[in-house]
Amino acid sequence: MRHSLDSITAIFKQVFATNPTVWADAGGRVNIIGEHTDYHDGFVLPTAIDLRSYAVASGRDDGILRIYAADYDGSVQVALDELRPFQQIDWRSYTCGPFWSWLKAEHPFTGADVVIGSNVPAGGGLSSSASIEVTLLGIAKALSNEILSCLNIAIIARAAENLFCDVPCGIMDQMASSCGQKHKALLIDCRSLETKLVTTPNDWVFVVADSGVPRSLATGEYARRRSECDAGMKTITQLYKHVRAARDVSMDMLNTVKGRIPEVSFRRLRHAISENERTLTAADALKTGGIYLTGQLMQQSHESLAKDYEVSCRELDTLVEIASGIKGCVGARLTGAGFGGNTVNLVHKDAANDFCSQLKTKYREATGIKTAVRIVRPSAGLQTGRF
Ligand code: GLA
Repeated sequence: MRHSLDSITAIFKQVFATNPTVWADAGGRVNIIGEHTDYHDGFVLPTAIDLRSYAVASGRDDGILRIYAADYDGSVQVALDELRPFQQIDWRSYTCGPFWSWLKAEHPFTGADVVIGSNVPAGGGLSSSASIEVTLLGIAKALSNEILSCLNIAIIARAAENLFCDVPCGIMDQMASSCGQKHKALLIDCRSLETKLVTTPNDWVFVVADSGVPRSLATGEYARRRSECDAGMKTITQLYKHVRAARDVSMDMLNTVKGRIPEVSFRRLRHAISENERTLTAADALKTGGIYLTGQLMQQSHESLAKDYEVSCRELDTLVEIASGIKGCVGARLTGAGFGGNTVNLVHKDAANDFCSQLKTKYREATGIKTAVRIVRPSAGLQTGRF
């Protein structure tokens, strides 16, 4: 079902038999480049997209939170003073967690009736969870009239994901979902959390293609990549006192410790270091209309993610290979954590519809998988308001 504020409002009226007083919506995100760099204090270049989550609510003053999740046809009711991370992590964690995190950050909230629904495909690497978290924090913000920046919201959303949902993610997804702007990509420095806006080119579009392989950060592979990097960083930080994260390590420094750190850590860090350079170069290239260079860097990013970071899979590689051979596409790579989910493709707008149908057909021929291929538009981050 495709949601909108109107459809979510209609559901609210059915479920709670009254009118909502506030609304919020926030985008999923596609990361153009800068993958597995955010938790190394590095750089990322995502955009919020027009696949969004929508929520409406009315406030309560009895400390009770009731949430109806339209996508699951499920309800959860909790007393705020008893709210703790659940033993089993599922949609209830992603919907209650943001309110827990909001209260932990000492913002006022006395309860609410909420309905939420999302158009961001779950488990597709397009940040469905971040967009749900940020949207619900938009509800808390609108109900409490607190004044918070989009960055503050992103930080609270990330805490919900890390601490309530037990997912060790970085800050990229929540920042993109909260701080996105129409026609812009965000170059985020994940150390200072400073953001520079990069205008996306008019004549080119981003296309996302779903591999059909669901991914989940909770599988342990994501955390393993982080600890493989940490194992190499131990030796590097002993040698170079100013180094705080992979962000501070140059290729020369990494080569100096070759043979002294595990081979796998060497490759993981080689990805993190080279990806940071690619991201900064791509942001400059996008700004100055260097589309072909941006595309090449996306392609190199995929190679590095597949070979050095080993977060690709056969289906994602197949999607990238097919896309690279279709007219009008200058760059293709996996987007998000990897292990499945979507690829992002940079395609000339005049070739976009043809690109989508060719990629669909050829991917099905190659793998037997029927995939969704969609054009996504760089869009606003969190929006909230009162009815
Ligand atoms: C997931 C995480 C992000 C980031 C990406 C990989 O989307 O939530 O923080 O680490 O993977 O770039």
